Amino acid sequence: MAVLVTGGAGYIGSHTSIELLAEGYDVIIADNFCNSNPIVIDRIKELSGKDVICYEVDVRDFEKMEEIFKNNKIDSIIHFAGLKAVGESVEKPIEYYNNNLISTLTIFDLMKKYDVKNFVFSSSATVYGDPHKCPILEDFPLSVTNPYGRTKLMIEEMLKDIAKVDDTMNIAILRYFNPVGAHKSGKIGEEPNGIPNNLVPYITKVAIGQLKEVSVFGDDYPTVDGTGVRDYIHVVDLAKGHVKAIDKLNEKPGLVVYNLGTGVGYSVLEMIKMFSEISGREIPYKIVGRRAGDIAECYADPTKAEKELGWKAEYGLKEMCEDSWRWQENNPNGYN
Ligand code: NAD
Ligand code: WQD
Repeated sequence: MAVLVTGGAGYIGSHTSIELLAEGYDVIIADNFCNSNPIVIDRIKELSGKDVICYEVDVRDFEKMEEIFKNNKIDSIIHFAGLKAVGESVEKPIEYYNNNLISTLTIFDLMKKYDVKNFVFSSSATVYGDPHKCPILEDFPLSVTNPYGRTKLMIEEMLKDIAKVDDTMNIAILRYFNPVGAHKSGKIGEEPNGIPNNLVPYITKVAIGQLKEVSVFGDDYPTVDGTGVRDYIHVVDLAKGHVKAIDKLNEKPGLVVYNLGTGVGYSVLEMIKMFSEISGREIPYKIVGRRAGDIAECYADPTKAEKELGWKAEYGLKEMCEDSWRWQENNPNGYN
């Protein structure tokens, strides 16, 4: 069975492609490499020992995408392709709406034309806004505060409308918490452009000496030590969750929504401490003011995914940090 993986050269898409191949799925990647490196495709082949078909294409390009549907029998689609930086989305809303919405609509049109019924969507815990309590359940109220989050919520709503009128469609909305870590081989991982916005790549760049110190955004939150608490999840666990979601869609469940998180939250200071222990390096930090738009706590209740998908995160914080660190140490300049 063939899975079309849009954005398959990216951080989560590359790890997911490897897990799909390991479970016997054929993988077809569509990526324009706007936030990834073509080398990743060779690494996926090397690590999986299998071949993958890769098309360099902008998913918004209907004609070029149609070639993929014409030339391959696609059973399911995992749609990772999109822009993902919250701060950048505030600066460049048009680019975000254009890329994230048009790419998704193009896929919907092609699915209809070529009768593809199974669709997995990369959503985000960001759709829960500032949750009234933690752990977060899938039926909590949804709200967003920035264009990036709005694209995720808009697409979720489109999917619900589509499922309402077509009961042959099988759709899994996966809401990821905070993906970190890297493949055990140290050969694929996250490669942010420029100075990282997210905590873990920032910490590893301080540990390796490329950045001076971590700015801790606020220590006056009502949390264990005053710093922000998040549900960090190993990217390989997340990737395995996608394979389970594809298996689930093959049972024709209609539209389903799952949190993919561990259920455990860690603070910024706990993360810095763990990285310092793992890397054996000092990680200097300073407390600065809160970052606009941040919330105190965010962690999942992942029991629905466990019950219905038979999926549960297996890696703990130590392995997440070890694997992020191995990737950073082996690839100080990313894929270059
Ligand atoms: P990423 O940037 O590493 O991967 C996205 C991939 O999509 C890249 O390879 C990029 O080149 C490609 N792409 C973007 N626009 C494209 C287009 N128009 N046509 C073809 N290819 C295109 O990001 P990621 O961290 O792997 O995230 C994957 C998905 O998961 C995204 O939709 C993101 O919003 C979502 N998500 C990510 C996180 C996170 O923290 N990483 C959390 C929640 C949700
Ligand atoms: C984690 C914690 C920060 C950087 C974002 C998106 C979300 C999802 C995942 C896509 C917070 C603190 C961070 C730093 C810090 N992506 N921090 N210093 O904000 O939970 O989620 O990525 O869907 O939508 O919003 O992740 O890694 O940026 O922050 O103190 O230099 O680390 O305040 O408490 P966040 P993050």
